[in-house]
Amino acid sequence: MNYFALIPAAGVGARMAVGYPKQYLPLLGRPMLRHTVEAFLRSPLIAHTYVVVSPEDGYVADVLPPDMAGVTVLRCGGATRMESIRNGLRLLAPMVGADDRVLVHDAARPGLTPALVGKLVAEAGTEPAGGLLALPVVDTVKSTRGGGVTTTPRDGLWLAQTPQMFPYALLRRALEEAPDPDAITDDASAVELLGLSPRLVEGHPRNLKVTLPADIRIAEMYLSMESTQ
Ligand code: CTP
Ligand code: MG
Repeated sequence: MNYFALIPAAGVGARMAVGYPKQYLPLLGRPMLRHTVEAFLRSPLIAHTYVVVSPEDGYVADVLPPDMAGVTVLRCGGATRMESIRNGLRLLAPMVGADDRVLVHDAARPGLTPALVGKLVAEAGTEPAGGLLALPVVDTVKSTRGGGVTTTPRDGLWLAQTPQMFPYALLRRALEEAPDPDAITDDASAVELLGLSPRLVEGHPRNLKVTLPADIRIAEMYLSMESTQ
């Protein structure tokens, strides 16, 4: 069984609003996408890394030169994250076997480390339903859904991160069969709709998704720290 990384990097970064896609934002002087890709290049477990960008992307060649070893850029990004991933999975068909595992990881999570990749593979690498990094909720959770305010016990609640890892054939089927692609906010939820329970593996706060301008300095703080996690 081989492990492949698939990195969706075809978003526009509307909430970051820097005038170009946030995956190219410099963090400690290097583009975010470069940090993200290197977590996989430095992991001995990953056979190859694929990066999905939009067909019009004019930045990627400077960040991931065509002759760079271990990584291939796919210009098949779609209108949503899920479409980008679905398009990427289709192109992977000749290279990846049905039981090989695909680790889908947001370009916008540059704090990933080879140690976290290793932990995910060690704890869920052979799970038929796959697995994902997630963080146990530490705050008390409030809900305003019913009109008033209620409290949901945080016990048993997790925040999903990526990588989210599944057998190739299972993930393709889950995303092709998803009834409402717009309602699928992560890959695991599509697999859950097939009646399966992916395994949750505890991640680390350094693997935050860089979404808002305030996240930039937090990401840089983690990137400047030695990664023992
Ligand atoms: N993504 C993608 N294709 C899309 C939309 C998003 O590949 N059509 C990727 C992003 O590049 C990112 C990941 O999915 O690496 C997570 O998405 P998000 O953090 O929401 O990034 P953006 O969609 O770029 O940001 P925003 O929602 O603020 O526009
Ligand atoms: Mg988005």
